[in-house]
Amino acid sequence: MKKDSLSITDNRSGKTYEIPIENGSIRAPDLRQIKLDPDDFGIMSYDPAYMNTAACASSITYIDGEKSILRYRGYPIEELAEKSSFLECAYLLLYGELPTKEELEHWTNRIMRHTYIHENLVQIIESFRYDAHPMGILISSVAAMSTFHAEARDVNDPEIREKQIWRILGKLPTIAAFAYRVRIGRPHNYPDISRGYAGNFLYMLDYMNERDYEVPPALSRALDVLFLLHADHEQNCSTATMRSVGSSRVDPYSAVAAAAAALFGPLHGGANEAVLRMLEEIGSVAAVPAYVERVKKGEIRLMGFGHRVYSSYDPRASIIKKVAYDVFEVTGGNPLIDIALELERIALEDDYFISYKLYPNVDFYSGIILQAMRFPTDMFPVLFAIPRAAGWLAQWTEMLNDPAQKISRPRQIYTGYAQRSYVPMEERTSPRTTRT
Ligand code: CMC
Repeated sequence: MKKDSLSITDNRSGKTYEIPIENGSIRAPDLRQIKLDPDDFGIMSYDPAYMNTAACASSITYIDGEKSILRYRGYPIEELAEKSSFLECAYLLLYGELPTKEELEHWTNRIMRHTYIHENLVQIIESFRYDAHPMGILISSVAAMSTFHAEARDVNDPEIREKQIWRILGKLPTIAAFAYRVRIGRPHNYPDISRGYAGNFLYMLDYMNERDYEVPPALSRALDVLFLLHADHEQNCSTATMRSVGSSRVDPYSAVAAAAAALFGPLHGGANEAVLRMLEEIGSVAAVPAYVERVKKGEIRLMGFGHRVYSSYDPRASIIKKVAYDVFEVTGGNPLIDIALELERIALEDDYFISYKLYPNVDFYSGIILQAMRFPTDMFPVLFAIPRAAGWLAQWTEMLNDPAQKISRPRQIYTGYAQRSYVPMEERTSPRTTRT
């Protein structure tokens, strides 16, 4: 018997099977040999929400949720947040190594040169209603981009793929800024590529023809760090969507639109918006204990707390907490920070949160920063989508280059009726059931 293997005895038949263990995992298809007779389908593994199923091998991002470790291509997130930039990290995620000076210049130049969007796309953005959610505009606009760049459908050509990556990373901030300006009835600012990635984005959002207009460097650096921290997080819901949709070999615009749609949900990229609404609902430091009691009774969830992979402090939350104070120096404080700090203090000492291993996640403080920078709350998921696109595209590229990957197609356990005969209308008596 091999040492790196798992012996499984099927008590229905008494037969024992030896299943190889590789990288601490067994291959689910190896279970299919466990059957009672040749017509039997074989054993499947059942894992709703992929709680313990690896759907890919990846060398991009490493997380140890118990030890609060997050690394991009081996580099600790803390070091990157201090020394690197969003665009440099995007390069690292996509190409596997930190760029040389020339590589970074070329990469930055390519992305910034693709910040302009087609005037037809501008018209599409302008056609949304004044109260359209900016995330809805972003998702639709990225999907629409597939109609502007028909060659993108050739996903097997690495050069064509690279060009779409430049376009997506370049144009997303422009789409987001234009969506914002349309909604507040202000004219668009076309990109100023000399201002850098985050600086140009803030400029497009904010500029109103002021003489000597400058984006405060502390704000563009803070936004760049937020972007860097959100760039990738291995197989989260939206990244898994990107891989799954991309596995059909659809163009990257359609796949990014699908991933962005996944990110829009309140349990994922919508969480910092939910945190802010929660802090506003709590309203004061004095009201925090009563709110925590409601969470403990199971009436509500503490938004910005808990994570599928972290059972300790999310390392991004610690960095973001520091960034918050840098931003407040420019913008003035945010009264919600005191409520957040008190909430965190009480929760971290409370048996309920300790026993469930619920700690602040990345979204707990990011909303407070974004609000202090005067972003409207519904822009928050958009500010998550822009940097996460780097991760989506890196994971998409890795998936396309991985010979082990095929079109994504989970199995199911069928729980419905066995075959039955069609019932004529006049013989149907049963009331409508809730069966789906
Ligand atoms: N407040 C109170 N209780 C919680 C919370 C919370 N935030 N999160 C989990 N629990 C409890 C939950 O009630 C459950 O208890 P029980 O077993 O008694 O029913 C237990 O912990 C396990 O929860 P779960 O929902 O099965 O855990 P999950 O891994 O499926 O959920 C989560 C992860 C992030 C969706 C969840 O913790 C949550 O809803 N948090 C609030 C929303 C949030 O902050 N999301 C942002 C995630 S970070 C950004 C990103 O990656 O998108």
